[in-house]
Amino acid sequence: MTEIKSPGKSTLCIWGGEQEYALYERSTQVPVVHSVSFTYDDLDTWQDVALEKEPGHIYSRNTNPTVRAFEDKVKVLEGAEAATSFASGMAAISNVLGTFLKSGDRVVSIKDSYGGTNRIFNEHLPALSIQVALCETLDHEEIETEIQKGCKVLYLETPTNPTIKIIDIQRLASKAKEVGAIVVVDNTFATPINQNPLELGADIVLHSASKYLGGHADALGGVICGSKSLVKQVYQYREIDGAAMSPMDAYSFIRGMKTLKLRVERQNDNAMQIATWLENHPKVDQVNYPGLVSHPNHDIAKKQMRGFGGMLSFSINGGFDAIKKFLPALQFAHRAANLGCVETVVGPPATTSHVECSAEERTAAGIPESLVRYSAGIEDLEDLIADLENALSHIS
Ligand SMILES: Cc1ncc(COP(=O)(O)O)c(C=O)c1O
Repeated sequence: MTEIKSPGKSTLCIWGGEQEYALYERSTQVPVVHSVSFTYDDLDTWQDVALEKEPGHIYSRNTNPTVRAFEDKVKVLEGAEAATSFASGMAAISNVLGTFLKSGDRVVSIKDSYGGTNRIFNEHLPALSIQVALCETLDHEEIETEIQKGCKVLYLETPTNPTIKIIDIQRLASKAKEVGAIVVVDNTFATPINQNPLELGADIVLHSASKYLGGHADALGGVICGSKSLVKQVYQYREIDGAAMSPMDAYSFIRGMKTLKLRVERQNDNAMQIATWLENHPKVDQVNYPGLVSHPNHDIAKKQMRGFGGMLSFSINGGFDAIKKFLPALQFAHRAANLGCVETVVGPPATTSHVECSAEERTAAGIPESLVRYSAGIEDLEDLIADLENALSHIS
């Protein structure tokens, strides 16, 4: 039989990473291996596995067959050499930063990263005497100047949460290479279906798997991909840090990822149509969506993304009071601190991504109190638009 050398993304979503495990006891699905440890009668084999001279598993805080299948699936979708996983997206982020940054090092990033990431930059890293330079997200010149001053890590997130800003990964990664920095990109919003940062020069791509990868809002996890040598360093840090993914969560991600491409394509379409519709609505002030020609970095998005994603945000007339009327009136949306799942999910940054900030801090970060973060689900587009129309009619 001729082997298909470069299967497409849908095929990889379904088959990627599974060959080794799927035939276990003739099952067609990856089994959930709930075992904490793995037994060896032969001590030489045990030692060889422990020393990674032979494949196998020793202890599930380190590796586990179900978790490994999940990691392999993400790895092929990101076109990486290696992947390792974590108990949450935040664990992935803090383990990556913890691995590469030591006291006295410097990291360059953006002001608009996810609220939890931002806290690491503003509180955790400075407490360890790590210098942090947070730049205006859209000011590529400022980011380049800060990189030029020298840094160990350049940390990017694109599109950003919740203002859906777009950063040019290729441009900044090539600048970072000049100073020998490790380039890390949070690809949670884009997913490997819409964007592959490693192809654009990043060294590490990471995801909160709790969002699009799982897609059903029923499992928490994080994952990183990159070269064997970089991923190994992070894996060794995590082994001891202990923030390992559970086998049951890995199974939920594997199952969810079978439909990743289908879901993301539908969410791309729904978000694009909804953003266009909202842009023409008189009660809507501003719509942030990279697929719109009005988006300040639409051209960069077109260059580095295959689809513009399922996330948008918009502000409505009437401030936070209007939001309090608008959001509860939506029939087909969870009002929740989540995104990327099959259901539409909405929330203001004041209760989701930027709950830790004061109203003044949000305003300073360019996040209006009347902003709504909208994660388009896979419902029928006509129903989502009718629902928005109805809910907007509740504000005067
Ligand atoms: C872009 C982004 N990165 C990372 C995280 C953190 O992921 P987790 O909630 O799985 O820890 C989030 C959470 O919302 C996010 O939106």
